[in-house]
Amino acid sequence: MESTRDRLINLLAENEDKFISGQALSESLNISRNAVWKHMKDLGKDGYEIEAKPRKGYRIKEYPDKLSSNTIKWGLESKWIAKTVIHKHSVESTQTIAHRAARENAPHGTIVVADEQTNGRGRMSRTWHSSKEKGIWLSIILRPEMPPNHASQLTLLTATVLADVLNSFEGVEPLIKWPNDILLNQKKTAGILTEMQAEQDRIQYILIGIGLNINHSIEDLSEDIQMKATSLKIETGKEWSIKTIIQRLLTAFETSYDLYMKNGFHPIKEKWEHFGFKIGENIKIQTFSDQWEGKFLGISDEGALLTESIEGKPVKLYSAEIDWF
Ligand code: BTN
Repeated sequence: MESTRDRLINLLAENEDKFISGQALSESLNISRNAVWKHMKDLGKDGYEIEAKPRKGYRIKEYPDKLSSNTIKWGLESKWIAKTVIHKHSVESTQTIAHRAARENAPHGTIVVADEQTNGRGRMSRTWHSSKEKGIWLSIILRPEMPPNHASQLTLLTATVLADVLNSFEGVEPLIKWPNDILLNQKKTAGILTEMQAEQDRIQYILIGIGLNINHSIEDLSEDIQMKATSLKIETGKEWSIKTIIQRLLTAFETSYDLYMKNGFHPIKEKWEHFGFKIGENIKIQTFSDQWEGKFLGISDEGALLTESIEGKPVKLYSAEIDWF
């Protein structure tokens, strides 16, 4: 059930720049005018800038930088993404919440976002450190009509979206390390975890989990990852608005996803290769059963890793880790 406070914010948000009278609010919310006034004071304390004019009423002038379902939606121009936003202060993993929501029929484009994860999950059963209000810990629920074996293309697409958004910030030059780590100055700043619920030939839902380190100082990164991880703040020397970056990511994701559904994977492949780390160089390739060295040629038309065998033949790999010299 939506709280009175959330309903109040929604009413104000729906009216955008127009004033809405205390009387109208009190009637719609079924609370006294005095209670409306108290709510306004509380919103002010939480960082909302409320303009109150005699005989006209109230309007929201500025939303706080803090994350909430309302602040994320405010100013976000989207067709289908983040029409439903589930925001939590602290969760084990946004993926767990998203799985539950998806099973309960959450619509395509629903996002789950948290200030903090106490048990954030990475690929290959690794832990993903997700400290409070330092980064983006977000899962997107998708219900694409496509064969399950194309799901990895969506992960590659997400990596290009992250790279594009970061690249639009002055002085930030991201690279993508196969398959989907985002590097700044050769250190990892973002990762993507894709999970899927599917039948043999039909996807029920896909969860795209995005972790992006933003406002961490070096000390905020645990010692075991300090050598190989970084944040936007460490690389640029300044604090960033997490809310604004979430909004940028969501609109860029929506645009890219719609184009992919219309035009297929080829433009994504080209973009991925544009940002691809170590393309044309020798890398160490590790599969479940094997390990060898070869040239990294790029990605195939379906999104597999393309390498060159010792005999000089191209080899396609769908599930491999790489390392470089
Ligand atoms: C990786 O590089 O190993 C993937 C990291 C993915 C982390 C994100 S944070 C939001 C979502 N919830 C999780 O528990 N993991 C993903």
